[in-house]
Amino acid sequence: MDKKVLIAPSILSADFSRLGEQVALVAQGGADLLHVDVMDGHFVPNITIGPLVVEALRKTTDLPLDVHLMIENPERYIDRFIEAGASWLSFHAEATHHSHRVLQQIKEYGYVKAGISINPATPVTYLQHILEDLDFVLVMSVNPGFGGQKFIPSALDKIEVIRHMIDSRGLDVKIQVDGGISAANADKVVLKGAEILVAGSAVFDSEDIPKAVRGIRKAATL
Ligand code: DX5
Ligand code: ZN
Repeated sequence: MDKKVLIAPSILSADFSRLGEQVALVAQGGADLLHVDVMDGHFVPNITIGPLVVEALRKTTDLPLDVHLMIENPERYIDRFIEAGASWLSFHAEATHHSHRVLQQIKEYGYVKAGISINPATPVTYLQHILEDLDFVLVMSVNPGFGGQKFIPSALDKIEVIRHMIDSRGLDVKIQVDGGISAANADKVVLKGAEILVAGSAVFDSEDIPKAVRGIRKAATL
């Protein structure tokens, strides 16, 4: 594979009482991005963090912050999260009626990577007419809301089809995969065309966090 796969540890499974230290450990392990899961208790049945924590993270690490919004009506909060320090920002196709408009809202900043996330049951055809507007697609390989769930195998087919859609149009859109990723299946998603691997529990539930990041990178290097 000629393209470098990016590893994005998700802090959802981190020890929040010592978040700064845990972030330093993933950076030490060679993480490329820091994945930040924002949940509102409406779009998903869990509540996590808001712009204040993103702002605090921005001050504590040089890693680009990859903010994954799992919230209804993301258009209301795009600006807040970008101002707080997000440099990659994705929202869910299922959470807004106006995804094309939300993408433009993100792209107006000029330096923020704009992504759309699709749930396991959302067909890839959703992306047909907005693919050109995307910097990345986030394929959910679990139902969003919680860390530590099992990888849903149909995500592999989705990645393959989206890869084909992107390549056949000669576009530069990255595929990110999120949910149930570990060193045991990283090779499979990369083979199908994923280029950004999100991993929460596989990294932060490990005794040796830097080693866990390196392990996923090794497994993803084909
Ligand atoms: C789930 C989140 C994921 C989560 C992944 O809704 O979007 O980013 O942290 O956790 P693991 O890697 O444990 O499945
Ligand atoms: Zn996520």
